[in-house]
Amino acid sequence: MKEFNNVLRSYGTTIFEVMSRLAQENGAINLGQGFPDGNGPPDVVRVACEYLETGVNQYPSMMGIPPLREAVANINKRFYGLEIDGSVEVMVTSGGTEALASSLFALIEPGDEVVLIEPLYDSYLPIVRRAGGVAKFIRLEPPNWSLTESSLASVFSDRTKLILLNSPMNPCSKVFTTEELSLIASFVSKYDSYAVCDEVYEHLLFDGLKHVPLMTLPGMRERCIRIGSAGKTFSLTGWKVGYITAQLNLLNPIAKAHQFLTFTTPPNLQAAVAYGLSKDDHYFKTLSSGLERCRDLLANGLKNLGFEVMPCHGSYFITADFRPLGFEGNDEEFCRHITVEAKVAAVPVSAFYQGGGVDNFVRFCFCKEEKTLMKALDRLRKHFNG
Ligand SMILES: Cc1ncc(COP(=O)(O)O)c(C=O)c1O
Repeated sequence: MKEFNNVLRSYGTTIFEVMSRLAQENGAINLGQGFPDGNGPPDVVRVACEYLETGVNQYPSMMGIPPLREAVANINKRFYGLEIDGSVEVMVTSGGTEALASSLFALIEPGDEVVLIEPLYDSYLPIVRRAGGVAKFIRLEPPNWSLTESSLASVFSDRTKLILLNSPMNPCSKVFTTEELSLIASFVSKYDSYAVCDEVYEHLLFDGLKHVPLMTLPGMRERCIRIGSAGKTFSLTGWKVGYITAQLNLLNPIAKAHQFLTFTTPPNLQAAVAYGLSKDDHYFKTLSSGLERCRDLLANGLKNLGFEVMPCHGSYFITADFRPLGFEGNDEEFCRHITVEAKVAAVPVSAFYQGGGVDNFVRFCFCKEEKTLMKALDRLRKHFNG
């Protein structure tokens, strides 16, 4: 029989799936895959339920239902001072993942260069390659994960179509500084390129930090595609409701990709997310302060066990070096070991790099109930300290 697509054939099952399966088989607490405990805010869920019975359940507008597009425009203004016309500059997608795919399929011509920053969320590279793009990597390394001008200069050229920027960043929990964002903006402008900004963790920042969309920097409004996710903002990862904010001329081609991929997103979930985005500041503050408590609990617990824990300023992941524990093996072996022996699952950070390198770090997810985190720490303590 004829071969299937070559790019996709080269990828196996994702490490998240592999570790989650191993966790299940071993009765392990899964701190590998990133999904919150619980069932999201009850009022948001109720709106979705009510809409199913009282709303219109046929194909909604391809661009998204007007109340959600308006809510996304309002939140852009409320948090970042961006003036957005919800009727033409916002599109609803089936999750951040589809927003990324639609943006990349819309912008990339075969042979275009695409700047990717490692460690890298797993869906970026296959989509870039499937769209015919040529990836140019910048590697950020622990403990600081800093982005330098020379690293940008080494990958940007006249062939660069776009940079994919994830801030706050999964898996390393980095929040790009204003200086780093300014550097990126200067390269994007200099090389007449675009920035696809994966900002799904925009409301999950800690230590008093505020999220700064690249789009708010001078000259960036017309070059940025800003992506958000209700899955992250409302701890409802299974809903897969995302949204793109971009100037009309950029959003138009992306809408064309979207119309041939998913076309639309369940209307009851859209209505509930529109309601959710209109919640008061208390909701957003409690979301980040609750997660910050979980971060501290896990970070302190891991430190006490002997891990070297990296700073975590955003997202719901924490990375830690396990070498001080004396484990002799790489990160994947360590993850398998703790899943099987200690009954706690994590994911290896090397899976977020092409071609290895950093192989002594693991990523733990802390968007879990405090009692789940304490139980996981207890299991690790019993395993490593007897
Ligand atoms: C960096 C990043 N981008 C995008 C997504 C996907 O978002 P969604 O679940 O809305 O598709 C995730 C989910 O884990 C993520 O970590």
